[in-house]
Amino acid sequence: MAKLRLIQVGVGGMGDTWMKTISESAEVEYAALVDVNPQVLAAQAGKYHIPQGKCFTTLETALKLPADGLVNVTPPQFHEGACCSALCAGLPVLTEKPLADTMEAARHMTACSQETGKLLMVAQNYRYQPFVRKLHDLVRGGAYGAPGQVQLAFYKGPHFGGFREEMPYPLIIDMSIHHFDMLRYILGTDPLQVTGASWNPAWSWFKGDASCLLHFDFTDAVKVLYHGSWCSTGDETSWSGDWRIECAQGVIVSRQDVVYEALTGEPLRLSALSAMPLRAQAYLLDEFVRNIREGTRPATHSADNIKSLAMVFGAVEAAQTGNTVRL
Ligand SMILES: NC(=O)c1ccc[n+]([C@@H]2O[C@H](COP(=O)([O-])OP(=O)(O)OC[C@H]3O[C@@H](n4cnc5c(N)ncnc54)[C@H](O)[C@@H]3O)[C@@H](O)[C@H]2O)c1
Repeated sequence: MAKLRLIQVGVGGMGDTWMKTISESAEVEYAALVDVNPQVLAAQAGKYHIPQGKCFTTLETALKLPADGLVNVTPPQFHEGACCSALCAGLPVLTEKPLADTMEAARHMTACSQETGKLLMVAQNYRYQPFVRKLHDLVRGGAYGAPGQVQLAFYKGPHFGGFREEMPYPLIIDMSIHHFDMLRYILGTDPLQVTGASWNPAWSWFKGDASCLLHFDFTDAVKVLYHGSWCSTGDETSWSGDWRIECAQGVIVSRQDVVYEALTGEPLRLSALSAMPLRAQAYLLDEFVRNIREGTRPATHSADNIKSLAMVFGAVEAAQTGNTVRL
């Protein structure tokens, strides 16, 4: 079967991860690479042996070439423009998270996908890890009864430089989207409302608030306490955070991406994880390829993912106003 031809727009930090994933896949090849920064573009093309003739500094030029899909890895404020241009040119799109930098842009992008009949899916790679799959299976399997209260803690202190250190609410908008999306995936329900606060510790190297404490009410009376920081000073959690999911008949826990479980009254025991042949970006790329070849619909298509994004902007509004925000 012929390889699918992909255009990738944005070849910076995360763009490199996608270039590695795409280069290692037997199912896809590059139709074009696009980046507004010619130095970054040339360096990345050289690293992955992509001919200069396939490299462009404008997406408009690349979209004139024959292609089967587009992977968007630009910063969030450019997602709407890049994704809608590709969809309108007849290409399905796999875009990096967050879907968009505003709810208005996300609604427009979702409408654009529906009107063109072309897939718009979001790279929620955190879902596709063995320990997250295990949490999902334990909660949804029913042996522990209905979940009732969840605590999710995220503490990291990365120095990224770049757009994250300048943007408002960097933690909630650029990082917590992964945690919120995992919550929806693991619990299998959607949130109803959010309340909470955000702040910036005195030592923070971010301009926007890098810490928050949020309380989500999910359907079926499930309460979620989310607290985290991107300017943590020690004892960091994993990137996926530490989870404690209390159910009617026991508790399911993950610490540093290791899962433990205990029925009420029993000691905590290690949970065995199942192998996942494809994980993270490789899993998402496979879903994207299956959509193009067979028409299957990836779980993180934009009409679903916009509910994870609504948690982000609901949380920002709750933090800004002090109000409880309906989602
Ligand atoms: N899923 C994950 O785990 C994960 C991790 C990191 C970043 N991301 C996401 O990936 C996206 C990119 O983040 P990054 O860390 O790679 O940023 P980055 O700044 O390192 O790279 C972005 C690249 O896009 C280019 N660019 C900017 N505007 C452009 C435009 N209009 N057209 C073409 N190219 C353009 C820049 O020149 C740069 O090379 C963001 O949405 C970010 O949230 C996801």
